[in-house]
Amino acid sequence: MENNDELREIISPADIQRRVEELGADITKDYQDSSLVLIGILKGAFIFMADLIRHIRLPILVDFVRLQSYGASMESSGQVSITKDIELSIQGKDVVVVEDIVDTGYTLQYLKEILKLHEAASIKICCLIDKKERRKVPVDVDYVGFDVKKGFLVGYGLDYNEQYRNLPGVYHLNPGYEPRAYIPSDR
Ligand code: IMP
Ligand code: MG
Repeated sequence: MENNDELREIISPADIQRRVEELGADITKDYQDSSLVLIGILKGAFIFMADLIRHIRLPILVDFVRLQSYGASMESSGQVSITKDIELSIQGKDVVVVEDIVDTGYTLQYLKEILKLHEAASIKICCLIDKKERRKVPVDVDYVGFDVKKGFLVGYGLDYNEQYRNLPGVYHLNPGYEPRAYIPSDR
């Protein structure tokens, strides 16, 4: 790494895998005999989604949306727009939205409204990380991997200016921090 970003591991790859397996088991239990569609939010949720669905022991369908919120790179402006809609019909189906982090709640509040227009039978939310204390608008999150109080996080799909998505764990980022950059050890 050529820059001075400081990365501190807060969730290890092994802890993520354990928790994702549990979330998959919970979803499996809750959606017996239903017609389930998982909708991942690009790009951040792509790794979580890939791991999660392999722990869901049900026939499922998979789709993605791409949402953008504008503003400074570490803060949401609250203005969200959709740049890629779903491609499958979810009418009458049960939907679980898969998100990386719920922060202010603006993104999911917006997406839920859009999915309601598609007439899903039910809409629940599964996120890897819930930053509950930073919520600006109320959003019910039904499946939560980890609660994190503060800080900007990267890794396991999460980015800072499109970097760090490929790191295997979740790290607290201190951009441009002065001491030597730290490259997390592999699994
Ligand atoms: P919200 O609309 O404020 O709830 O934020 C949702 C989006 O902001 C998430 O889908 C993430 O893509 C991004 N985000 C929020 N917090 C973080 C973070 O700590 N690291 C990386 N992305 C984040
Ligand atoms: Mg996101």
